[in-house]
Formats: sequence, C-alpha cells, structure tokens
Amino acid sequence: MKKLLLLFLCIFCLTHAQQQPAPAAPPAPPAPPAPPAVQKPAEPQQPAAQKPAEQKPAVEAAKPAEPPKPEPKKLPEDILQTPPVVYAVGNEYQIMALVKQDLPVVMWVEVNGKSYYDASNGILRSARSSHRMTVPQSELNAAKEYTLCCHVLTKRKAYFTQTEPLQKKTYKFRPIEKTENIKFFMLGDCHNRVKAPIAVTQYYGKDLDLLILNGDILDRSEKYSDLINLFKVAGGATNGEIPVVYARGNHEPRGVMAEELEYYSPLRNGYSYFTFRVGPIWGIVLDCGEDKPDGHDAYGHTIACHPFRLEETEYLKSVIANAANEYNAPDVKYRLVVCHIPFIRGTFEADIYREWCTLLRENVKPNLMFSAHYHRLKVVRPGDDWDKNGIPCTVVIGSRTGKGDDYTGTAVELTEKNAAVRFVNFTQKVEGEDIIEFK
Ligand SMILES: [Fe+2]
Repeated sequence: MKKLLLLFLCIFCLTHAQQQPAPAAPPAPPAPPAPPAVQKPAEPQQPAAQKPAEQKPAVEAAKPAEPPKPEPKKLPEDILQTPPVVYAVGNEYQIMALVKQDLPVVMWVEVNGKSYYDASNGILRSARSSHRMTVPQSELNAAKEYTLCCHVLTKRKAYFTQTEPLQKKTYKFRPIEKTENIKFFMLGDCHNRVKAPIAVTQYYGKDLDLLILNGDILDRSEKYSDLINLFKVAGGATNGEIPVVYARGNHEPRGVMAEELEYYSPLRNGYSYFTFRVGPIWGIVLDCGEDKPDGHDAYGHTIACHPFRLEETEYLKSVIANAANEYNAPDVKYRLVVCHIPFIRGTFEADIYREWCTLLRENVKPNLMFSAHYHRLKVVRPGDDWDKNGIPCTVVIGSRTGKGDDYTGTAVELTEKNAAVRFVNFTQKVEGEDIIEFK
C-alpha cells in the first residue's frame, strides 16, 4: 500500500512540475529611431512593347499612289507672255516683264552680280502679271546683259510660303555707244495691231538701236487683253535687247483698265512725262493727255487732263532750270521731243501748248520732234501752214494706218548734221523720205 501511495505521489509531482509558469522576462529596451526612407531611383522607362502590325483591310491596302508632282515651270516658255522690255526713263532703265495671267511670281534681275527687285518697301510683288525692275543705266550699259530671275509661288501665305525652284534666263543688251548713224524706229497709232507694227520695225534688222513707241499703241484700255498689247509690241520688236522709249497717247486713258496702265508702262515716279537718255541722245517725253476738253460727254466725268497739263508745264520749267544735267550735259549730241499729239496747231489748250513751244524753242532747242495721232505721214517745218504755235523744231508726224495689217511707221538715221527719215510700210516698202538738216 505504501508503495502504491509513493508511486501516486511521484506521478503527481512530475505532472505539476511541468505545468509551472516560466519566470517573467526582463523589460525590452526602447526601439531605435527608424532610418530615413531612401528614395528609390525611378525605374528607367521601358519602351512600349512593339505592337504587332495591324492587318489593314484589303480596301485601304489597295489605295492608289499619289499623282506625281507637276514639273516646275520653266523661264521663259512657261512663265512669260512676251520677251522683257528695257524702257529708258531718266538715267535709269526700267526692265519690265509680263508673266502669264494669274500666275503669282516674284521677280528680280541680276546685273553685274547685283540684284534689283520688283518690290514695294521691301515686299516682293506677285499680285499683278507685270513686273518692273529699275537699274541704273551705267550698270546695264557696262554689263551688256541682265539675268531675269523668278520664283513661281505655289501658295503665298503669311508663314512658310511655298515656291517652285529658282528660274533664270540671261538676255543680251546692246546700249547705244556710237555717236553717228544711230538707227531707230518710231511706231504710233498701232491701235491694238501687233503683227504689222513689229514687222515694220525689222527694217533695220539687227542694226536697230532704239525703238520709240509714240502713243495709241492700245486702241483703248477696256480689257486686260488691251492692256498687254504694249508688252506684245515692245517685247516682240526688241526681244529685250535694245532700249525702248514710250510716250502715252490719248487712247490709252480710255476704259475701265486705264487705272492699271501705270503698272504696265514706264513712268517717272508715277508720271507719264519725263526726260530720258540713250547714249548721246537726250529726249523729253511729253503727254498731252486727252484730245478734247475734260467735260466732254465721251469721258463721262473720268478725265482731269487740264490740271495735268499745267503740272507738266511746271515740270518743263524744272527741266530747263536743271539744263546742265539734262540737255546741256557734256555728252549730249542730239535733243529730241517725243509727244503723241503734235501740239503745234488748233485752238484746244492753245495757251498751254504755245507756252510749251516757247519754252522748248528758246531753251532746249531740240533737233527734232516726233509725233503721231493724225494717222498720216507729214514733216512740218517751222513756218509751214501747220505751224500755228511757233514750233520749236521740225516735227515728224510718222504713222499711217489702213485696213487690217496696212500700217506704216518711221525709220530714222541720225548723223551729226542731219536725220534721214523714211516712212516704211508693213511690206518694208519706203513710201516717202526726207532729210532734215540740223542747225
Ligand atoms: Fe491719238
């Protein structure tokens, strides 16, 4: 029994010893401060995974290729309507070129490495089909050639105007350098004829030194096709290779396009009367304007030529005041007056025209005056029955028109002593001639 009790006790003790709680642990030390957070560098951006090409629908894949770009326009054949014209105004040449209608083009000429632009206060012009580049005579006379340069504008915009490539063409130019046997041709009263007037100017062939266009080259300025006849005659007769002098007639101011004439003809600071030089020749272009009073019904309140003539009288006086640099310049050998209407007879504006005659006769002392207007061929000497206003020199009225191509102009050869004048018709037959001695 004792043994059993002892065994029980032993088992009891062992069981309770295992169930005793563990002694309490010492308190934990305070936690250290957390280290600052470290900025993790940004992961480099991985390129987007290439998407597999989408399968285009069959219709889009079969889209036709874009049409090829048109060929750039070539100078002159695709751009110009006529050869250029070299007009003499003052001591300058105005090189004028006519591009195709509605073709926007910016243009300039290069003479001896220098560029002369058709520009208005730094802006190159492209709105009209006519272009004008003004070059000092001394530069072109020395270079004897000029290069027409242009860009066709695909689209003129405020920014990034698109243009076609640069186009260039060089023209030979022959200034008048001789002082004897100078040959020139005068046309007037063409009244929109082109072919026959060009044909008569070929009378001197390659020896032609100068072309004078003496008014009524246009029959009227009604349409654009009227306006460009001046370019057709002047460019066709000279090919831009010799100087041209232009005097306006009384038919050019007629019609709705007359206001545009200033852009299609040579002017001195906007005026149609001016002096000019070509080699040893000094000349003055005068403009009588219309041939009837401003209030005439034919003009319908669109003409003010009377004040225009009075301004011109003042200009003539200013030329006389500057004689030393004009007709009395040391290298001047010939003095010419060019005016479409021979202001030598009649009662219309007689006071003004007598004053012009007196100023010219007493001061300028011209060798010859050339006119047209009457559609006849006539040489008027001082004292003749046509001389009603005291003409300043012999006046040659030198154009006659018939039907169709029937047209006659005036060929002139200048020597120191005289001028040989021949009236040449469209078959190049001489219809009459005269020798005018210089005093
Ligand atoms: Fe006329």
